[in-house]
Amino acid sequence: MEQGGKFLELYKSPSIVLGRWVLLSLYLPWLLENLRFQTERWAMTQVEPKKRVFSGIQPTGKIHLGNYLGALKHWVENQSQFDNIFCIVDLHAITIPETVKPDEFKRKILEVAALFIACGIDSKQSAIFTQSHISAHAELTWLLNCVTPIGWIERMTQYKSKADRLTTVSAGLLDYPVLQAADILLYKADRVPVGEDQKQHVELTRDIAQRFHSLFGEVFVIPEPMIWSSGARIMGLDDPTIKMSKSLGEQRKGHSIGLTEPPETIRESILRAVTDSGNEVRFAHGSAGVRNLLEIFEVISGKTREEIESHFHGKGYNFLKREVADQVIAALQPIQDQYSRIMADPGHLQQILREGADRVRPMAEETLRRVKRSMGLV
Ligand code: AMP
Ligand code: TRP
Repeated sequence: MEQGGKFLELYKSPSIVLGRWVLLSLYLPWLLENLRFQTERWAMTQVEPKKRVFSGIQPTGKIHLGNYLGALKHWVENQSQFDNIFCIVDLHAITIPETVKPDEFKRKILEVAALFIACGIDSKQSAIFTQSHISAHAELTWLLNCVTPIGWIERMTQYKSKADRLTTVSAGLLDYPVLQAADILLYKADRVPVGEDQKQHVELTRDIAQRFHSLFGEVFVIPEPMIWSSGARIMGLDDPTIKMSKSLGEQRKGHSIGLTEPPETIRESILRAVTDSGNEVRFAHGSAGVRNLLEIFEVISGKTREEIESHFHGKGYNFLKREVADQVIAALQPIQDQYSRIMADPGHLQQILREGADRVRPMAEETLRRVKRSMGLV
């Protein structure tokens, strides 16, 4: 007892108190530094979750070189960087009902799935599925329809150009971009890798999400389009003033290059590609047709513009066309080989699509539930 009292006295003596403070002031910076170091080390071990990518292709017409260079090729190249969801958007493919061929639909969906895989999409790493297999797409579209001012969708250039060519325009064609917004927002996608023509639709998706947030509170991730500087707008070979398109590819020989087309017809279409009467092979000064061929060469070869221009210097258009044809044929050959192999087992493809849908359905349903809850529907 007495011992304890003495110790307490000593402990409280001014010199000991001072000593304690000196020690503490020496020790404290070391302690803080150590804490900072440990925190940084812990933070480094916390791997940031991958950003999510969502994109889609319609199972219609002839999947072409524009689809590959503007979208598919980039999906494959960036696959390991992202958490990917790739969708075969069959509900978008019925918005012009006169063109729907029910007997061919099932096969077309399998063909697109096979092409995804043949181009290098790994179904273990990326979910591949069919849009109509997840009913949340149609359901969220309705909810988003109710927050989308009609003027926003009437302004879409794709709608205007398609509607101009039709005698009867379906409500679905006008609503097409709202369904696309639902696709993207359901999965909280951060990035949407697409060709140039889809930029406006992704921007509309952002506007719809933001309007929803201002009305009912935050639910969605605001996505960003991912558009590459080359290959985002491949033009028709027979008419380089218009975009290479799936439907024209079916109607006009020499318009597009189908990914599964035989080498002879690929070569023929490229050799017949519209250029001009000059012979200068330059990116900046070439006509639309020459620039298109150069851009195809650029994306496939991976060479810089300077390297390409010096390669073609003084060689003329015929040489350019022959070289582009060789490049395209060589790039598509392995894809075509894989494609035939994959298409030989439709049962396996169907299983991949089923598993893909099962994998992503819970995400879609969770978002839909949150949207309904924030609107007071559940
Ligand atoms: P779609 O053919 O409309 O189903 O488009 C599928 C994807 O290919 C989308 O990301 C489009 O932006 C892209 N795409 C379509 N046509 C072209 C083209 N001519 N050049 C580059 N990308 C394209
Ligand atoms: N509208 C796109 C096209 O025609 C296809 C598409 C549908 C899409 N839903 C999507 C693309 C969602 C990106 C994200 O090319």
